[in-house]
Amino acid sequence: MKIGCPTEIKPQEFRVGLTPNAAREAVAHGHQVLVQTGAGAGSGFPDEDYLAAGAEMADTAEQVFAQADMIVKVKEPQAGERAMLREGQLLFTYLHLAPDPDQTHDLLNSGCTAIAYETVTDAQGGLPLLAPMSEVAGRLAPQVGAWTLQKANGGRGVLMGGVPGVGPAKVVVIGGGVVGTHAAKVAAGMGADVTVLDRSLPRLRYLDDVFGRDFKNRYSTAGATAELVEEADMVIGAVLIPGAAAPKLITKAQLSDMKPGAAIVDVAIDQGGCFETSRATTHADPIYEVDGIMHYCVANMPGAVARTSTIALGNATMPFMLALADKGWKQACTDDPHLLAGLNVHAGQLTYYAVGKALGLDVVSPNVAVKQ
Ligand SMILES: NC(=O)c1ccc[n+]([C@@H]2O[C@H](COP(=O)([O-])OP(=O)(O)OC[C@H]3O[C@@H](n4cnc5c(N)ncnc54)[C@H](O)[C@@H]3O)[C@@H](O)[C@H]2O)c1
Repeated sequence: MKIGCPTEIKPQEFRVGLTPNAAREAVAHGHQVLVQTGAGAGSGFPDEDYLAAGAEMADTAEQVFAQADMIVKVKEPQAGERAMLREGQLLFTYLHLAPDPDQTHDLLNSGCTAIAYETVTDAQGGLPLLAPMSEVAGRLAPQVGAWTLQKANGGRGVLMGGVPGVGPAKVVVIGGGVVGTHAAKVAAGMGADVTVLDRSLPRLRYLDDVFGRDFKNRYSTAGATAELVEEADMVIGAVLIPGAAAPKLITKAQLSDMKPGAAIVDVAIDQGGCFETSRATTHADPIYEVDGIMHYCVANMPGAVARTSTIALGNATMPFMLALADKGWKQACTDDPHLLAGLNVHAGQLTYYAVGKALGLDVVSPNVAVKQ
């Protein structure tokens, strides 16, 4: 198979769909890899690394789209990229179609087969191609929160770990899933006094068993949350209710009960945020103040550490990418129902029910589409 990797063109996107190591594996499997010149630059991978891995370089995205059997990307294809997709071509990338009717119609009209990273599943009921980005955002949250807490940034001027004779920062993490666990680990590693709130007792039992010595946990009720947030120097929002907007767990009125200069890092902002006062910000201008509380609400946090994010994403996507290339998408999806769960579009048909429901479009079962 000829695997194509164009340069990402969405603003502020520095990741790349294929690392040189993934390209090397694909070449070793007997595939041809075509990478657009400069595609890896934002993640610190020069063209020479791809050439050394056995890939070929193409000057333009048009060449990549025209020649490749499978396009591997990071972000959903932009309008100009969608116009280059063709019937029978395979697209493997993040899509997030439910809130995006324009993209959905363009993909349907192109006749391509599109497998979305975000809906590929695993045997534990998780989303293995979303998890690496949650790990990155989670580990980044205390780092950016610590920066937000610095006086010059409007923060309270509190050091995460304190110093001998001075107590540590108090950090509250709301939501103890992938983001929350990684945030709590890093905050505790920085020496902070950390408490994680979650609604799931099995999850709290797991956190207690594995991290009981590193950080505390509490069952998430409005009362417990209010009590902890009043005392906190930093609050990290990391809740998720699958398929729904994030619940607003802290109201604007509650900000006046918090310590002046405390920092809020709302990682759940990509689902609307779990603080009433959250609004999405960018890496260029990440923080703002409401009622004396500093808010960091960047919706694409992994972009700040593009190299780590690219490698983490590549590690997770590579086995699927190789299966698709080795077997063709139909056999790969027939052999692996978790990969089939990623099928969103095939030959002008929508194959993902939640997207059909959100956009009011007819859906063909992926089990039917894969046999066509
Ligand atoms: N901003 C970014 O760049 C970025 C990057 C990655 C992920 N995210 C977002 O971070 C959020 C968390 O993702 P995740 O992968 O950790 O999800 P996850 O499903 O692993 O964890 C979510 C946790 O929230 C808990 N929860 C639900 N309702 C709660 C409540 N009322 N109180 C306390 N806990 C509650 C759940 O029990 C679960 O343990 C998602 O919205 C995700 O989209 C944002």
